[in-house]
Amino acid sequence: MPATIIVGAQWGDEGKGKATDLLADTTDLVVRYQGGNNAGHTVIVGDEVFKLHLIPSGILYPHVTPVIGDGVVIDPKVMLEEFDGLEARGLDPFSRVKISGNAHLIMPYHRELDLLIERRLGKAKLGTTKRGIGPAYADKASRVGLRFQDLFDEKIFRQKLDAVLVHKNEQLAKIYNRLPMSADEIAEEYLGYAERLRASLCDTTDLIHTSLDAGRHIILEGAQGTLLDLDHGTYPFVTSSNPVAGGALTGAGLGPRHVDRVIAITKAYVTRVGAGPFPTELHDEVAERMTAAGGEYGTTTGRRRRVGWFDAVLARYANRVNGFTDVFLTKLDVLSEFETLKVAVGYRYQGETYRHFPPHQSIFHHAEPVYETLPGWGTDISEVTSYDDLPAEAKAYVETVEEHAEAPVTWVSVGPKRSQTLVRRDVPLVPGS
Ligand code: IMP
Repeated sequence: MPATIIVGAQWGDEGKGKATDLLADTTDLVVRYQGGNNAGHTVIVGDEVFKLHLIPSGILYPHVTPVIGDGVVIDPKVMLEEFDGLEARGLDPFSRVKISGNAHLIMPYHRELDLLIERRLGKAKLGTTKRGIGPAYADKASRVGLRFQDLFDEKIFRQKLDAVLVHKNEQLAKIYNRLPMSADEIAEEYLGYAERLRASLCDTTDLIHTSLDAGRHIILEGAQGTLLDLDHGTYPFVTSSNPVAGGALTGAGLGPRHVDRVIAITKAYVTRVGAGPFPTELHDEVAERMTAAGGEYGTTTGRRRRVGWFDAVLARYANRVNGFTDVFLTKLDVLSEFETLKVAVGYRYQGETYRHFPPHQSIFHHAEPVYETLPGWGTDISEVTSYDDLPAEAKAYVETVEEHAEAPVTWVSVGPKRSQTLVRRDVPLVPGS
């Protein structure tokens, strides 16, 4: 059976956790394919709120096997904290979560360097999550990273650590004037984690393909979003992995023919955390209301998110680089606040209008949005249970998003709970389910 990719269409925080959780109902495996504990998913089940960073949202369904694929970077300390937290709430992550031996480890020097590099950049900083993500992926690309499988071979772990730490300590001492780190201490800490994580070590590529061959369904769950993609995002204000649909293939070990559905998760407006250009960003009283109504504070860092009107140029671009089959539109209820709504349908720069994502960063940095104005609906929609019962203005807004995203909006979310989701087209992930 083919797999489904769930991908963020904006700068992350689109509500992928909720979407994955909801769609996981009819799936067997949920695979995280990139990123690390820079991500944060909030899932609300009944009255319970779960905040997840590394573990795929599917953990909340007993029938789902949550998988951490090759393309993820893992901080084992954080992983264990998350395991312990879920275990305390009656779940069994220690035996259920499967982790690829090829996933890279975030080491203490990665976290330290993330902080130091940001500090040194001063005003030009990226606003990273300070979790060591960039330095860990840099070591992976430089072929000096340690992987999850190394935790289970003390000799190899020490060899690799000793070799890389010489360089890291030189960097820490000579460039940043910091104390060197001790290989003994790091080894003791990390090898201490190994015993507790042993049951999770898995040949995830084999698990994924055996499952597909057996007719089981798989969701590939992206973290962050398209505009934070290392290759296709607003570089250098991006993360260090590939959240786009192509990244799901490399990050999980699949080929294009194994996938038949790419679901875009997009908010009904736009948010961004950290630095970087954001053409439709608002700074006025509308921004205050949007932030408050949307609860726009990061799950991982608690940082206030920047907010702005829906950007159709970005939606069209995201469709180009991902190939969406469906859109899952989130947080439509937040827009109930406003009498009129704006959607950016193009950008203007030096007398020229751009309908598609501009080819040069300078254009994007200085782009003036060309807005279309739509009427608001002026009523709370969070209790609406059927798409047909939405006010006409809300439906018109959904149709506008659909027209610009150039893909059908299949689901509309009107609140954080699983039950607050309106199904617009009945196209189940698993035929017949
Ligand atoms: P890093 O991934 O920690 O290196 O941060 C790089 C950029 O990506 C920063 O602007 C972060 O705020 C942003 N970022 C990373 N993860 C997320 C996420 O899950 N949601 C939103 N922004 C994120």
